[in-house]
Formats: sequence, structure tokens, C-alpha cells
Amino acid sequence: MDLSEQLIKEKLPKHIAIIMDGNGRWARKRSLERIRGHQQGMETVKEVVRTCRELGIQVLTLYAFSIENWSRPQREIHALMMLLKRFIRSEIKALQKNDIQIRSIGHLESLPADVQNIVQEAVEKTKNNRSMVLNVALSYSGRDEILQAIIKIVDKVAHHDFSLSGLNEQTFSQFLYTAGLPDPDLLIRTSGELRVSNFLLWQMAYTELYVTDIFWPDFRKEDLYKALLDYQKRERRFGLTGEQITK
Ligand code: IPE
Ligand code: IPE
Ligand code: MG
Repeated sequence: MDLSEQLIKEKLPKHIAIIMDGNGRWARKRSLERIRGHQQGMETVKEVVRTCRELGIQVLTLYAFSIENWSRPQREIHALMMLLKRFIRSEIKALQKNDIQIRSIGHLESLPADVQNIVQEAVEKTKNNRSMVLNVALSYSGRDEILQAIIKIVDKVAHHDFSLSGLNEQTFSQFLYTAGLPDPDLLIRTSGELRVSNFLLWQMAYTELYVTDIFWPDFRKEDLYKALLDYQKRERRFGLTGEQITK
């Protein structure tokens, strides 16, 4: 039986975040250049976006490039930027057709100008799409995001545009890149590493974590269904007792 048929529609996460890891190791295992792994990883991105849309997931956030990734070899960074451009160019039609809104989180201004333009164009073109938000983390760091929020708040307070008495978890969240989006219900990390690598630190306070050993280029829709089935078996207690939840 198709695994997707076992999923309970009403219990699907609203927001899935993914740390797409293992491209380099996937390639090295095949004696290929790391870049080939990134190329193959793009195919996985297409399949995962399509599947999430079919399932009716509201928000999918993909960790595509971290601030720390800028310290990788120039050749690899360049190839990743090229792939990103190519991906948006080739997918924009499909995103439009499927009513998917594309957004980016992170320091977009750190990306090469041509990549920035193409991302901004895609964001603009798809801004009225409502069926799913595809949020791409580019030059992203969770700590930096929190710090930038604090800088914005301090600046607003200094200009009497915001009062500290109005600061709470909800209002703070509105200063983050993810303002207006629900927190991730499920985080998937491929390639087995048991860490969050500076991703969505604030937003992941109560996110369910799912790690698979599969490298990102090998991750198929069935693996996504497995992650979702695992998620649906969990009891999210948010600090309460099990008895309080099942009452
Ligand atoms: C994830 O794969 C993609 C990016 C970080 C851009 P990696 O490139 O980190 O692959 P591994 O972890 O070295 O195998
Ligand atoms: C996390 O993967 C960043 C992305 C997937 C874009 P990394 O490969 O950079 O993370 P570490 O270095 O293993 O923690
Ligand atoms: Mg990695």
C-alpha cells in the first residue's frame, strides 16, 4: 500500500522545515565532485516541493545556504549560486501553476546581484499565490536572525516607534524573517547529523525533530511520508502532562 494512504490528513504539520544535508557525501561516495551532489539535490527539492503541495502543507522552509557556508571553497559557493539561479528559472512556471508563493529568509543582500535579482523577481511574481509558502533560507543564521530582530527593536524604540512594554514572544516573532508564519511543527534533517546547525533557533522551541541517515539526493517522497507517519505517532505535550493532552 502507498505509504501516503496511511497519513491522517487532519494531523499533518502546517509547517515543515528541512535541513537538506549530505549532498557532498552523496557525491564523494560515488567518487564524484561535491557539486554533482548539489545538482542531484535539486531534483530532490523538486520532488519534495511537489509532494508537500499535494499533501496540502502550508509552509515548507528549506535550508539552502547558511552564513557559515560562505567559508566553503569559492568553487563550491559559485556552483551553488549557479544552481540556485537555474532552479528558480526552471521552476518559476511550475510554482506559479501550483499557486506556490516563494519567499526567502536570511541576508539576501549578501548574495551575488544576479542571484538576488532572480530571487526577488520570483518573490514578487508569486506573492499572491496562496496554496503553499516555499520559504528558502539563503545566507541564513538563526543567531543572526535573532540579533537583527533586536537591532530593529532597539532602533524602533529609539525612534519612539515601538514601546518596550509591548515586547513579548508574539511581538518579538514579528521582527523575525518568519513574521506571520507559524513555527515549524516538524524539522527533518537528512544525512544523520544530530544537530540544528544554526537553523530557526527561536522558531524551533517546540518543533518535533526527525533525522534520517539518507543523504539529501537520495531522499524520496516515500521518505517524506515516513517522516510524516513518525510525526503523527508523537504526542506533542508543550510542557503539559500526557493526561492533560488526552483529556
Ligand atoms: C548540504 O549538503 C547542502 C549545503 C550545505 C549547501 P552538504 O554540502 O553539506 O553535504 P555534506 O554534509 O558535506 O555531505
Ligand atoms: C546545514 O548544513 C546548512 C544547510 C543545509 C544549508 P551544513 O552541512 O552546513 O551543517 P554542518 O556544518 O554539518 O553543521
Ligand atoms: Mg553538510
